[in-house]
Amino acid sequence: MQNLAELRNVLSRHGQDHLLSFWDTLSEPEREQLASDVEQIDFARFGAILGDLDTGDPDLPADGLSVPQAFPANPTVEFEPTYARGRELGSQILRSNRVGAMVVAGGQATRLGYDGPKGGYPIGPISKKCLFQLFAESILAANRRYECRVPWYIMTSTANHEETITLFESADYFGLDRDDVVFFKQGMMPAADVSGKILLAEKHRVALAPNGHGGSLTALAENGILEAMADRGVDYISYFQVDNPLVSPVDPLFLGLHAMERAEMSSLTIAKASDDEKVGLFVSVDGKTRVSEYTSFPASLASARNADGTRKFDLANIAVHAFDRSFVERIVSGGKGLSLPWHAARKAVPYVDTDTGQTVTPSAPNALKAEMFVFDALPLAARSMLLHATRRECFSPVKNLDGVDSVATAKRDMVRRAAGWLESCGVSVPRTGAGEPDCVIEIGPLHALDHEMLREREPAKLQIERGQHVLLE
Ligand code: UTP
Repeated sequence: MQNLAELRNVLSRHGQDHLLSFWDTLSEPEREQLASDVEQIDFARFGAILGDLDTGDPDLPADGLSVPQAFPANPTVEFEPTYARGRELGSQILRSNRVGAMVVAGGQATRLGYDGPKGGYPIGPISKKCLFQLFAESILAANRRYECRVPWYIMTSTANHEETITLFESADYFGLDRDDVVFFKQGMMPAADVSGKILLAEKHRVALAPNGHGGSLTALAENGILEAMADRGVDYISYFQVDNPLVSPVDPLFLGLHAMERAEMSSLTIAKASDDEKVGLFVSVDGKTRVSEYTSFPASLASARNADGTRKFDLANIAVHAFDRSFVERIVSGGKGLSLPWHAARKAVPYVDTDTGQTVTPSAPNALKAEMFVFDALPLAARSMLLHATRRECFSPVKNLDGVDSVATAKRDMVRRAAGWLESCGVSVPRTGAGEPDCVIEIGPLHALDHEMLREREPAKLQIERGQHVLLE
């Protein structure tokens, strides 16, 4: 942006002159900051998106909608050889350093309201290890188990990039080699009020928000990460979210079945907890698997039953995916070609009232944010694979401070899973009348990544008293 006249010109062409309301009162550095924020806005794209937002989530066709095939969580006899081969292939691609882990950690975590990157939240029920540490230790444990080096790609956003790096620096990368940890930033989009006017976060700052987890795919291209992956020989990307402490950053069975099925994009799925659980669902439309968000999935279909009484549409999306690197390269074609649909997220975004100069902190959603969702890449894949998993083993997201999907439920689920693993190894775990563990147990990833690895540690002699805290790490 050359000068004020040019700035005014650009803004007035797009009906956004109000962003300069406080120009006369700003210091020189503040003016530079505002000009640089405005420069980040792709007005053409933003205008097109705003016009399209409400139709971004197309209605599902009443006909042609079916349930995609998914590999079962527990293989029946006929599947056993396939799973054995899948596990073997998964181990092989890990051993040959062809897998990279990727976490999306650019979100704003407004519901959690934590002061710092969400990955820094201390979630370990006893150890208080943060989410990033749990993932780092899982990757370290996989490196040891498969004698490999899994690089870890961490997507941040402008709002938490520096803080995230500082967190890793101060923890000495949680034991990982720092060359194996790569940070990259996602794109930002402005937040606008319902009439399309872009909001000011401060008198000299545009309210910019990260462009959704789907922005990870373009960010991989724009930051040269895909090339760096190719240079390292990374052919498979194991994708997960920062808010799930039960996730396996690299799961040999999942990755192996993905490769064996020659899928371009694969996903883990679990059964829904209830008809109205707020999760996206895998559905098949005209033979293509895709995710339908709960907001657009008709209630009559959500409660539909099969002849045997089981839920018909029961394949919940838990945001664990595997990608072929070549698939991501193809769909982003150098960062320019990706056309994932934009979705409107209605959020409460604090803003400066350009009439009064006062900051307003709304308690209800007042703004539209435009986001891309990573699962919208699924129908672009020539082939995809779904693997059923068990909720208790792999999913408990930290979204809220309390209530559902909260810190409390995630800690509870970490303890439940640890108790189950110990019992499967012959350890007696004291339980309450309601069947909950009557003790606090935490198993660190370096001690065991799953119950089979735990068995190798021979825990059978362990005695656990009621109310006892047991940390195995
Ligand atoms: P959520 O949809 O839970 O959003 O993100 P959020 O921003 O973390 O939390 P709220 O809605 O403000 O409370 C799911 C995952 O996607 C990542 C998040 O970091 C989280 O791992 N994400 C989300 C991004 O990386 N970038 C985004 O723009 C949005």
